[in-house]
Amino acid sequence: MQTGQASRTALAAATHRAVHQILEEGRIFADPLAIPILGQDAESIAREASEQPSRRRMRLFIAVRTRFAEDALLASCERGVRQVVVLGAGLDTYAYRSPLGERARIFEVDHPATQAWKRERLAAAGIPLPAWLTFAPIDFERETLPQALAAAGFDPAQPAFFTWLGVVPYLTEQAIWTTLGFIASLPGAHVVFDYSDPPEALTGEARAVYERGAAHVEALGEKWLTHFDPPMLHEKLRALGFGEIEDMGPPQIRARFFPNHAGPNAEKGGHILRAAK
Ligand SMILES: C[S@@+](CC[C@H](N)C(=O)[O-])C[C@H]1O[C@@H](n2cnc3c(N)ncnc32)[C@H](O)[C@@H]1O
Repeated sequence: MQTGQASRTALAAATHRAVHQILEEGRIFADPLAIPILGQDAESIAREASEQPSRRRMRLFIAVRTRFAEDALLASCERGVRQVVVLGAGLDTYAYRSPLGERARIFEVDHPATQAWKRERLAAAGIPLPAWLTFAPIDFERETLPQALAAAGFDPAQPAFFTWLGVVPYLTEQAIWTTLGFIASLPGAHVVFDYSDPPEALTGEARAVYERGAAHVEALGEKWLTHFDPPMLHEKLRALGFGEIEDMGPPQIRARFFPNHAGPNAEKGGHILRAAK
């Protein structure tokens, strides 16, 4: 991220979710706040997206990862989890439309510059701050998550569900493992995050899509730094104590969300992973 500035990729991800509501009618991920939080009219958002069909793959991936995370989160909360932590929240709107209401406290953890911008966007859109939401500012590269959460009133003795969407690729491995180590130290810990296979493992269209995406985020001042080889990642997660790992790469995403094969057709690329102790 550029010093002192809100995340520009957070705006890009939120735009993808808004466009998905229009072009795919929110079929994978329905979010009634996705358009209002952007503060643009639906027609101009759709016009911009339909002029750029190459963005479809990333848009669908973002819709899938958000839907997957929210389904897993709800299942956990139905089993009694009462704390939800949205790491690197960007313009994520879950807290403002949570079906759990007072039953779950939600902590939005993000870079202070992005958080300040989000609060402006929420106020401009007239989206109220719910009583169950607490903001916890952090720079993952400089501060520790336990401190940021403790200051926000998070109870480390109670089970919690963490979502960490669209953030891991932008961090150093050290920052990633520090955070995962903390999550793993909590009782009943559960986390969903997304990551990519290393670029050298990608071929053909998947490699081309990766290169375009990498150039785009770098131009926005937010470089992709970290990728994972799935078996090595799983091994390290198991060593941290995550006994349950569900990892959906492109083939699994296709089978589950695009049974008619309308989605991406690569074998490697973006993954969405759920890990629980
Ligand atoms: C691509 S956006 C994803 C936002 C959101 N999770 C979503 O899916 O729309 C990346 C997010 O990571 C956050 N982020 C990036 N580097 C960070 C850091 N060093 N510390 C805290 N947050 C960071 C940004 O502020 C931004 O909200």
